[in-house]
Amino acid sequence: MSVNFENTLTNKNKLEGKVAIITGGASGIGEATARLFADHGAAMVVIADIQDELGRQVTESIGHHRCTYAHCDVTDEDQVKSTVESTNNAHGKLDIMFCNAGVASRSDQTVLDLDLGALDQLMAVNVRGVAACVKHAARAMVELRVRGSIVCTASIAATRGGHRWTDYHMAKHAVLGLVRSASVQLGEHGIRVNCVSPSGVATPLTVGANGVDAAELEKRYESYSSLKGVVLKTRHVADAVLFLACDESEFITGHNLEVHGGYVQA
Ligand SMILES: NC(=O)c1ccc[n+]([C@@H]2O[C@H](COP(=O)([O-])OP(=O)(O)OC[C@H]3O[C@@H](n4cnc5c(N)ncnc54)[C@H](O)[C@@H]3O)[C@@H](O)[C@H]2O)c1
Repeated sequence: MSVNFENTLTNKNKLEGKVAIITGGASGIGEATARLFADHGAAMVVIADIQDELGRQVTESIGHHRCTYAHCDVTDEDQVKSTVESTNNAHGKLDIMFCNAGVASRSDQTVLDLDLGALDQLMAVNVRGVAACVKHAARAMVELRVRGSIVCTASIAATRGGHRWTDYHMAKHAVLGLVRSASVQLGEHGIRVNCVSPSGVATPLTVGANGVDAAELEKRYESYSSLKGVVLKTRHVADAVLFLACDESEFITGHNLEVHGGYVQA
């Protein structure tokens, strides 16, 4: 039987005509993904973040013809709903939701000294916020009959226990549970739901949480990968998100795509 590769997408324009929202798009992994989506011909990338000035700068540098900024605190369901609605109203649809906004643990806590107040605050962003984004993106896609792609940022902490950062590990496990359930529930609408799980990559989040500079942090992270000669950068994660967002992954849903260079537990 012959195989037809006619529809195989070439290098560029994997997202031609697509409308995407990226939460946490002002910085780090989200910013790199916004730039990559725009490079791949997305009709519009909406950066949804709480860092307004930074978000507007990133939008400006990508170009207003392809990118726009929306203030959206993912802990507030109304703001998430209205960001999805305004995207639909302005651009006619929503094809891709990248639920990426997240925060780090505020302390190195083990379960013995777990601060439940801090746990609630982290969960509000890293779990509740992601759930609100998946919910409202999915509702919009179902209503407009869009065979969309929802991608969440989990972490290698989604499938492993950790020596510290108990709240963060708990939250990322929950993201994986959400992705797996949503993928089962939304399949009948043609909506795919997947996540990317990076290991350590130097971003403002990890630099801040570890209290060392980016170069020092990358050196530390290098020793956690069995793959040598390459250091994880935000663009590697963005490449994985692009794959899950575009039609190249048309038959992939409920998947946790780990981006960790053969992680060996530290
Ligand atoms: N950097 C890593 O090593 C790593 C590894 C695995 C997973 N992750 C995950 O990747 C995601 C992105 O993190 P990053 O490393 O790029 O960090 P980052 O700090 O560079 O980016 C996170 C972005 O999320 C935004 N944000 C935070 N709270 C928000 C809220 N309530 N509403 C809207 N936006 C909010 C921030 O303003 C920021 O722009 C997070 O979910 C993080 O848990 C990061």
